[in-house]
Amino acid sequence: MKDIKSTLLDRTSIRRYEREAIPQETMEFIYRAVENTPTSYNGQQFSVIDIDDQDLKEKLYELTNQKQLKTCNRLLIFLSDYNKISLLAAKKGLDMPQFTNTMDGVVIGIIDASLAMMSAVVAAEACGLGTNCVGYLRTVDPAKVAELLQLPKGVFVVCGLAIGVPREHPDLKPKMPTPLVFHRNHYRHDSEKMIEELEAYDEVVKHYNATRAGGTSTNDWVAHILDYYDHAMAYRILDYLKAQGYDIKH
Ligand SMILES: Cc1cc2nc3c(=O)[nH]c(=O)nc-3n(C[C@H](O)[C@H](O)[C@H](O)COP(=O)(O)O)c2cc1C
Repeated sequence: MKDIKSTLLDRTSIRRYEREAIPQETMEFIYRAVENTPTSYNGQQFSVIDIDDQDLKEKLYELTNQKQLKTCNRLLIFLSDYNKISLLAAKKGLDMPQFTNTMDGVVIGIIDASLAMMSAVVAAEACGLGTNCVGYLRTVDPAKVAELLQLPKGVFVVCGLAIGVPREHPDLKPKMPTPLVFHRNHYRHDSEKMIEELEAYDEVVKHYNATRAGGTSTNDWVAHILDYYDHAMAYRILDYLKAQGYDIKH
């Protein structure tokens, strides 16, 4: 197993995989790591669908056009899940508060599922596997994905995670420098200095994109990300949440 330092610091998203299967004991380690994720109130407001059915992977690939979904060995779908606690509450005759109709209820499910996904990323990477989070599974056609995965009310997709034996070793992507990530004691208020640092980072990303191994581009950081935001504004996630039984009031 890799040490924790290289597991965390050498990680990059891997989107091409060997055909090799993932050993059962490795999957079991990933399962245990996911199950031991810290969760809000210990409510464990998440579930995972582990997909090894090639037909289903191909269907999800056709929807998203994300090749890694069909070539990965396992595809884990991380869900926000209030169905399980609702089932037991009903069985025991307990009133289920309308928590899923609040933003905090929604946020908590997303946090729990996201942390569970990160547990899986770290466990898989430590075992030498490659991983790629796939948010398109949440956004591309939520109703169709919910139908394919047979999701009950109270459950929605937060993110997919493709896992497999790496077939590529991309360069590490440059991330924001520490002073832009960590603020000391309070949020920074030196906007002029922040802008300078952000401009410098934008140039670093531009240089990385122009020179990286396997597929270069002229993209900078800011315009490229704003373009993603622009596209993402068309996603109808509130409608999807409503369809899954969430009627957000506040
Ligand atoms: C919530 C989330 C959703 C993502 N969705 C996708 C996706 O749909 N397709 C994809 O190729 N990569 C996706 N990624 C991977 C990011 O593009 C990647 O993490 C980012 O570019 C940084 O690169 P790195 O992971 O190699 O450091 C996603 C990552 C996160 C955290």
